[in-house]
Amino acid sequence: MATVIRERRTIYRFKPDPVDPAAIARWIETAVWVPNHHLTEPWRFFVLGPASRRALADIRREATRAKYRDRPQVERVAERDWREYAEAPAVVIVAQAGSDRPERQQEDYAATVLAAYALTLAAWAEGVGSAWATGRLARAPETYALVGLDPDVDRIVAILRFGYPAETPPMRRRPAAELTRTLP
Ligand SMILES: Cc1cc2nc3c(=O)[nH]c(=O)nc-3n(C[C@H](O)[C@H](O)[C@H](O)COP(=O)(O)O)c2cc1C
Repeated sequence: MATVIRERRTIYRFKPDPVDPAAIARWIETAVWVPNHHLTEPWRFFVLGPASRRALADIRREATRAKYRDRPQVERVAERDWREYAEAPAVVIVAQAGSDRPERQQEDYAATVLAAYALTLAAWAEGVGSAWATGRLARAPETYALVGLDPDVDRIVAILRFGYPAETPPMRRRPAAELTRTLP
């Protein structure tokens, strides 16, 4: 358990090997066992098939074009960004369903983040890496439309790309002891 938590890394380069859809379904079943105040089960998972992954890649390309439209290398960057999603072996979008009780939003967000993280850990435990993206793609109305969510109500919390790592980058953390105080 501690090894999975400590050794999981964000993976940006995947091997082209596919990720078994049955394994993804299993990891999602694991992910929903995170703590969840009031048992609101606010998480929603969208497992993207090839056509949806391409549609998401197209949204990303347009977002990149819009952001860098004044730069000469815009098309090269847009193509690179498109490939990141079009060629990702698997993509899962994790969203928080809006609550009619505003005071629940923050706790529901926390629970949904936990579920997304648990999903990445369950995958890592079986050798599959992931990259968590938020940013413009997660905010784009087109992304909400793709999965049938309402940006005024729901919230995309994570766009997760999955695949077998082609490269596991090094990472560091400060010793937690530096950030820990033990109180009397
Ligand atoms: C809520 C959240 C949002 C993130 N969004 C992005 C993102 O938009 N783009 C990205 O490259 N990485 C994103 N990451 C990944 C972090 O950059 C990554 O976890 C961090 O660099 C530490 O690396 P590690 O996961 O290998 O420990 C996100 C992570 C979290 C938890």
